[in-house]
Amino acid sequence: MARKIVVTSALPYANGPIHIGHLVEYLQTDMWVRFQRLCGNECLYFCADDTHGTPVMIRARDEGVTPEKLIERVHAEHLRDFDGFEVLFDNYYTTHSEENRIFSEQLYNSAVKNDSIVQKEIEQAYCDKCDMWLPDRYILGACPRCKAEDQYGDSCDSCGGTHQPTELINPACRECGSVPIRRKSTHYFFKLEDYGDRLKELVEDGYVQVSVLNKLDEWFKTGLKDWDISRDGPYFGFKIPGEDNKFFYVWLDAPIGYMASCKNYCDKNGRDFEELWNSKDWELYHFIGKDIMYFHALFWPAMLISGHMKVANKLFVHGFLTVNGQKMSKSKGTFIKAETYLNHLDPEYLRYYYACKLSSGIDDIDLSMEDFTARVNSDLVGKLANLASRSGPMLTKKLGGRLGTLDDEGRALVEKLQDAKTEIAVDFEGLNYSAAMRKVASLADDCNRYFDQNEPWKLIKEDPEKARVVLTATINAVKVLTIYLKPVVPGFARKIEAFLNAGELTYSDVNSFLEDHEINKFQRLVERIDKKKVEAMIEESKQEQAPAAGEEVKAELDEPIEPECTIEDFMKVDLRVAKVVVAEAVEGANKLLHLELDLGCGIRKNVFAGISKAYKPEDLLGRNVVCVANLKPRKMKFGVSEGMVCAAGPGGVDVFVLGVDDGAVPGQRVH
Ligand code: 2FM
Ligand code: ZN
Repeated sequence: MARKIVVTSALPYANGPIHIGHLVEYLQTDMWVRFQRLCGNECLYFCADDTHGTPVMIRARDEGVTPEKLIERVHAEHLRDFDGFEVLFDNYYTTHSEENRIFSEQLYNSAVKNDSIVQKEIEQAYCDKCDMWLPDRYILGACPRCKAEDQYGDSCDSCGGTHQPTELINPACRECGSVPIRRKSTHYFFKLEDYGDRLKELVEDGYVQVSVLNKLDEWFKTGLKDWDISRDGPYFGFKIPGEDNKFFYVWLDAPIGYMASCKNYCDKNGRDFEELWNSKDWELYHFIGKDIMYFHALFWPAMLISGHMKVANKLFVHGFLTVNGQKMSKSKGTFIKAETYLNHLDPEYLRYYYACKLSSGIDDIDLSMEDFTARVNSDLVGKLANLASRSGPMLTKKLGGRLGTLDDEGRALVEKLQDAKTEIAVDFEGLNYSAAMRKVASLADDCNRYFDQNEPWKLIKEDPEKARVVLTATINAVKVLTIYLKPVVPGFARKIEAFLNAGELTYSDVNSFLEDHEINKFQRLVERIDKKKVEAMIEESKQEQAPAAGEEVKAELDEPIEPECTIEDFMKVDLRVAKVVVAEAVEGANKLLHLELDLGCGIRKNVFAGISKAYKPEDLLGRNVVCVANLKPRKMKFGVSEGMVCAAGPGGVDVFVLGVDDGAVPGQRVH
């Protein structure tokens, strides 16, 4: 009987682009989902953007947009990238949704009812200037052990040690550089220990792979600590019921986002959410990286148990991606965004390569650019695609595109391929894609050997009907191999399906034979990887981000380069000398100054500039500055901004307004 399965991948943060590190998980999941569907199971795949929390809030502030606007834009970018890699979600939603708010409150209220929530007063770092509570990663200082500068409040990248933010030497707010103060506040905690026994049972019953059991044991042994589920405002998230300025911590509502995405899908498609999400008729699996195991193996099931909801059948945990044996690095050009990859290379290459590397364990996988090129060219192109491209056109061009019948040798070859069906299915089911790909490559070797030994290119001249028999076997072999590859390289499979003219291939089609059958024109399947394209991709990735100190660690938090603009676009910018005639602070704004600029001839422009950390109003009053005079007026929270003052710098106190000689005439063009 067909299985019914719901699958999720971890929700990517809405503050940055999808990169090839993320793609390990989405491609791993997508291949599993496609395999299930290929086998005739109903498998639904849900995901969403993880939109709440401090990084999103700060990024939006820095960009001068609302968090809602930011997450809307990033959502579209993420969808575009997933689409480019053919990640086939049934629903890609957002955690900033009404469904998610309702479920979050529901689970929280259940926890309150169970007496699993306690309030405690805690002391935390706060930046007066930014008007913001500072998570550990928003405090920088020197490491208390090795004294390395510019380390985060939780760990040192240089010596690898962990510490409290209070132990940092010369701590400073990462945003504005000022010294954080300590402030007390009451927080809500979830009593994880209440669920300790149930969680242990869950783990003993196979909730995680064997390879992660040790880590969990360690956590159980050290004791389950109360979990702080609240954050004080300002914070981008859901308000805690009954509170004015307290919000659910992003990690409370993030996994609930899985449910919300499923619910949204059900409502849109007339399906019963309770049945899909909560009944035993449906299996549920979460694919995650090993860094977020604590949340998914402990907090998340505990919250579900507390809310009397079903817990997933299993977590599928994977390791991280390294590139050329090292952490992804912007300066080395190995921090490759999905978008950048797609500018240069076919997504099927990466899908195939990841499949060749992935197994069921939590070891990191390495993308060596050299091995990537070699493996794709030798196996996917050299063994698999070539088998089809050597046999297909011969049959269509010279033998009228008609398959004949199999002889004993040909049948034996195809049967050998068919015999691998169960083993390969077990590999896919158990996430051992690398084993499956090895088997497929080795079977392709057998097929190429058969082809070479039978020399159909010679036979076609001497005995065309014998050639037809050999090509019939080869094309039947291509069909079986394509079924095995279909979850991994769907584009490749589509082209073969079109060529075979036998409809969409399913896993059970492995056992059928195509004989006396008309096939279609052959289309080229996949090109060899051109090394130059890989180099160009690395180069573009290097150009995208100038390296900064501690860059690898901050990789996810840096702002991506905007899409390129042409010189013609750039020339549209009209720069003029302008005199600052009014300069004042903006009440309630974090970084803005309100300026009124005189551009001569009675033209005045109202401008809100994000420079208050670097300049006091009196520093600018009466000065000549450079103004973008033709900027489309933009409605901001504090009023309409009708222009822009040219300034540059990394941000915070380091922003420098472009100065113009005081003798210059307002309105004069600047080049
Ligand atoms: O680690 C992360 O990237 C998180 N955004 C994952 C969230 S997964 C789920 F719990 F929402
Ligand atoms: Zn600050």
